[in-house]
Amino acid sequence: MINYINSIDNIEKEKLHGFFVGWPNPPSQEKHLEILKNSTYIWLAVKEEGKEVVGFINAISDKTLSSYIPLLEVLPEYQGRGIGRELVKRMLHTLKDYYMIDLLCDDELTPFYKSLGMFKSSGMLVRNYSQQEGRG
Ligand SMILES: CC(C)(COP(=O)(O)OP(=O)(O)OC[C@H]1O[C@@H](n2cnc3c(N)ncnc32)[C@H](O)[C@@H]1OP(=O)(O)O)[C@@H](O)C(=O)NCCC(=O)NCCS
Repeated sequence: MINYINSIDNIEKEKLHGFFVGWPNPPSQEKHLEILKNSTYIWLAVKEEGKEVVGFINAISDKTLSSYIPLLEVLPEYQGRGIGRELVKRMLHTLKDYYMIDLLCDDELTPFYKSLGMFKSSGMLVRNYSQQEGRG
């Protein structure tokens, strides 16, 4: 059974295991917790038993006009069960009063986000790969 929660209370770093799949230099579990704590909004998919986190989404915002969704991930063994869709739905509802709700994604994921009411645009970005583990 999966529960959805929007608070990091009672979630220790040990409950954040196995994320950032495929990242050469992933943030540590400690840094992951820091990311969630410092985000403006989060939703977590948590196993009822053991309270491990199996999926998460975060958003950062100016709290007036704009919001940005940097990260969404579901652990590989929990993918394909609707958890990712539920996390995005919940976050879009949380952000519904903002003028701007932006995210960047690979082309292959545009049908997923389109089906959740988003539209495709173009973006520009910088990636400082030396900082992939998180700012020191
Ligand atoms: C993207 C991700 C969060 C989806 O989570 P999930 O729990 O597997 O998603 P759901 O079970 O809710 O599936 C939603 C739909 O997206 C589709 N989908 C998921 N990943 C996809 C991919 N990589 N390419 C194309 N479609 C994909 C599924 O086929 C499904 O379609 P359906 O509803 O028509 O069957 C998950 O695959 C993941 O963590 N991927 C790695 C990290 C990542 O890419 N994050 C997105 C950053 S923008």
